[in-house]
Amino acid sequence: MNATVEDIGGDVSRRDFLYLATGAFAAIGAAGALWPLVDQMNPDASALSLATIEVDLAPIQNGQAITILWRGMPVFVRNRTPEEIEKAKNVAVSDLKDPVARILSSTAEIPATDGNITKPGKENWLVAIGICTHLGCVPKGQNPGDPRGPYGGWFCVCHGSIYDTAGRVRGGPAPRNLDIPPYDFIDGTKIKLG
Ligand code: FES
Repeated sequence: MNATVEDIGGDVSRRDFLYLATGAFAAIGAAGALWPLVDQMNPDASALSLATIEVDLAPIQNGQAITILWRGMPVFVRNRTPEEIEKAKNVAVSDLKDPVARILSSTAEIPATDGNITKPGKENWLVAIGICTHLGCVPKGQNPGDPRGPYGGWFCVCHGSIYDTAGRVRGGPAPRNLDIPPYDFIDGTKIKLG
């Protein structure tokens, strides 16, 4: 199935997105600014701080998305709308190109249901590594105005791979679903990544 620019979803204003993106990077930037001091004090602690970051998702409104840099990789965080969640839940695993949830913290072959890809009670949040599983481009779909493909998730313009709102590959040459990084909610809206 081919995606077009008309497949764009969401009605987030560009100003809102830039504000959120700036806020997220500012928070991470502040943590990064501590790095030289921590590094001098304790190399082990500094290595740990690189591996794990905390991000407060509270400013991300329903339908909005931010990208976080974690271990040198873009991590997509999207606050999915009820319609997006419903659509993602109604997909039969047997219809998927890759039926396995690519949860990096687990070696088990978990079916790629929407419930297995998200956290219980936090189904609106989709957290996935934003690297196309074909040849490693960063798929479009995070910014307002980006093409998102016919399933409303992400579209990789490099060779046309299509992902749905649960990060599952639905078309194109990508062989696997987007990887889900290790993360947990440490309070209502704050996640610890890594
Ligand atoms: Fe994404 Fe090839 S790298 S489709």
